[in-house]
Amino acid sequence: MLSFEDTFSSPALQPVMPGMKSAAAPVEPTAATRRVRAEDKRIINGTADVNQLVPFKYKWAWDKYLSGCANHWMPQEINMSRDIAQWKDPNALTEDERRVVKRNLGFFVTADSLAANNIVLGTYRHITAPECRQYLLRQAFEEAIHTHAYQYIVESLGLDEGEIFNAYHEVQSIRDKDDFLIPFIETLTDPNFTTGTPENDQKLLKSLIVFACIMEGLFFYVGFAQILALGRQNKMTGAAEQYQYILRDESMHCNFGIDLINTIKLENPHLWTPEFREEIRVLMQKGVELEYRYAEDTMPRGVLGLNASMFKEYLRFIANRRCQQIGLDELYPNASNPFPWMSEMIDLKKEKNFFETRVTEYQTGGALSWD
Ligand SMILES: [Fe+2]
Ligand SMILES: [Fe+2]
Repeated sequence: MLSFEDTFSSPALQPVMPGMKSAAAPVEPTAATRRVRAEDKRIINGTADVNQLVPFKYKWAWDKYLSGCANHWMPQEINMSRDIAQWKDPNALTEDERRVVKRNLGFFVTADSLAANNIVLGTYRHITAPECRQYLLRQAFEEAIHTHAYQYIVESLGLDEGEIFNAYHEVQSIRDKDDFLIPFIETLTDPNFTTGTPENDQKLLKSLIVFACIMEGLFFYVGFAQILALGRQNKMTGAAEQYQYILRDESMHCNFGIDLINTIKLENPHLWTPEFREEIRVLMQKGVELEYRYAEDTMPRGVLGLNASMFKEYLRFIANRRCQQIGLDELYPNASNPFPWMSEMIDLKKEKNFFETRVTEYQTGGALSWD
């Protein structure tokens, strides 16, 4: 049977009972009530109070949260009437270009829901730094905006929703990418999974790497390059503009993930063993293969001046970059970037959008009057 002391874990929570000494005596701080010090915080397995955002320790996470808010956008701000007219005009787009658009949406309409669920149901609870949690909350909302954007494009163009939203079951090249990702998402969302052993901490780290470096950092890039290439040829510019904002958000997600991974490595160097690094290199190679097969499937012939083999080079270039970012050697020596214009797209400045279709400064709501 539980004693009175057992039922109240913290002395600060214990009520003063008749006959007990007055509560006027100062409360002795315990691990649970001691004021949070920045140096006590840890990204994983931390014991500092996660409800206290400050004092900051991981300023990079807070800065990314602020940048994410500054880049806020909503899909319905973007005018789709020109895209709709082009989609209806049988001469405005080729069959191959239409296939690119449909396959593209087929992957993305469910990919960002997977991403959101992975954050909310998986990653979030395993991260014990409140600055990082604050960014993850912003990121989760951005994933909702992305799903909204893809849905908005599907609806605007009058595409078959059943076909597009089921593509991840029905199109093999998309299914294969998701089948690769899902076990890593399931690790984190399994209610019985907890960190705290080297084995489980490595599982968490591996899932974070797969998510940031392979899903957000690689699996999105064929699709982004294709739709942005359409926009550069003055086709589907409303969709392309939305993809441009999504690309900007995603490159921030990827960079946040990389900072998170590198900080976990710094705080837990015992996790970064040679065997673990080799496992990551194999996963990265597998990711490149899957994304290349997706490129071939979406572009059976050259389209928009692009072809699948250019994407092979591009994916190798990106995979090298991701490896370097987390401290691994390049996988594909001498791979170069066949699409240098993609960097301009990522570095989009808010004031001026690449396709010049609108002024993109985000307006926060009109002035409120309390009278
Ligand atoms: Fe997203
Ligand atoms: Fe994302």
